[in-house]
Amino acid sequence: MKTINIQKSKKCLICNNDINPFISYGEMPIANGFLNSDNFSKEYFFHMQVAHCTNCNMVQLLDTPDKDLMFNENYAFFSGTSNVMKDHFKNFAFQVKNNYLNVEDPFVVEIGSNDGIMLGNFKDWGIRHLGCEPSANVAHVAKEKGINTIVEFFNEDLAKKIISENGQADAFIAANVMCHIPYFHSIVAGISLLIKKTGIVIFEDPYLGDVIEKTSYDQIYDEHTFLFSVNSINYIFNEYGMEVVHIEHQDTHGGSMRYFIGHKGVRVPSKEAVDQLAKEKKLGLDKPETYTKFRENCEKSKVDLKKLLTDLKIQGKRIAGYGATSKSTTILNYSDIGPDLIEYICDNTPIKQDKFSPGKHIPIKNIEHFKENYPDYAVLFAYNHAKEIMSKETDFIKNGGKWILFVPNVHIVN
Ligand code: SAH
Ligand code: TYD
Repeated sequence: MKTINIQKSKKCLICNNDINPFISYGEMPIANGFLNSDNFSKEYFFHMQVAHCTNCNMVQLLDTPDKDLMFNENYAFFSGTSNVMKDHFKNFAFQVKNNYLNVEDPFVVEIGSNDGIMLGNFKDWGIRHLGCEPSANVAHVAKEKGINTIVEFFNEDLAKKIISENGQADAFIAANVMCHIPYFHSIVAGISLLIKKTGIVIFEDPYLGDVIEKTSYDQIYDEHTFLFSVNSINYIFNEYGMEVVHIEHQDTHGGSMRYFIGHKGVRVPSKEAVDQLAKEKKLGLDKPETYTKFRENCEKSKVDLKKLLTDLKIQGKRIAGYGATSKSTTILNYSDIGPDLIEYICDNTPIKQDKFSPGKHIPIKNIEHFKENYPDYAVLFAYNHAKEIMSKETDFIKNGGKWILFVPNVHIVN
């Protein structure tokens, strides 16, 4: 099968090398842009293509929509919709507090702090903290809980403003946001100024190695400008006098990496960090062939999913989706799956309910609708929350329902 529309070459956002896309996913809408039917005709689309830079090894989108189209007062992702993630971020916060804040009057800065799922812990412990969160609606939830939050995009200028008002930070933390930011040089420059000489930077994002290994191409969408690896992160931080000193793999979001970064020479890089740099080369994350194979795997996954759903539909089965994730926007639009195959998608986020999915316009319903209208099959778009969701939805199985998963390959859970 041929890949469509591979068009232009561009400069790498990290090292300015020439880059060429290895895959096009076609025209894509805003992944979190759940919409009402009167806005269908105004919907925004962009051409989603991905490239690997052979110089610095950063995997990146060629084009991204303007940031205000994605992050604004109608942002649809509220971190607090998962109890498992609440525990995950509590443990993250404990790790920061216990290992890195043993100083007088410590100061913690988080970007992409959303509804305060992580920073709320520091607030409860009476630790000086500041969240930078540009999406006003989610920031409002954090502020209501008494969490110090500024409604702004983090960049180098904002870092200077934070320093002038609060002094330098002991810890800079972030989850699932660093990979969202195309103006990454400004971010790293800002961090290198903001963080004290002995301070620590800790952030986590979906990991390139997992995406390649599991063909979880749904991690690629407008917000995810980058798919990070330890090598590509080390490359850019090195340019600002910093280095990766430790890493920890996480199970969240289908496989993530937590990076620990300090000013060069302050901490000795751990064995885990050093080994992972070498392991990525062994896995071929620096080789163009790896991305050619990944493209073939994506194309197979797309065909397999559409075929399975079409076959079930021909047999008269009813199919729904579970979890109106941003990830599902890529799956549905790339695989050309619409309301003719998937009747509705249920989700526990009020702002998404009674709207339609981006691009394909599948109705989004609340969880009660699922319970009252059990389908024969449910595609688990929020597969990264499989444990939490499957343990809540045991009645669906008792009623004869079956889950469909598409990572690491398309299959029915029996
Ligand atoms: N950290 C949370 C939220 C991740 S969603 C979690 O892991 O669940 C990404 C968040 O980053 C959104 O709330 C978005 O508004 C915010 N964001 C996007 N660009 C940003 C920037 N430049 N500075 C700070 N936050 C940003
Ligand atoms: P998630 O996979 O975290 O995010 P994304 O792909 O957008 O980064 O999104 C999970 C979605 O699933 C979110 O919209 C909330 C929903 N959800 C439920 O409906 N029920 C649940 O029990 C959980 C954990 C999530």
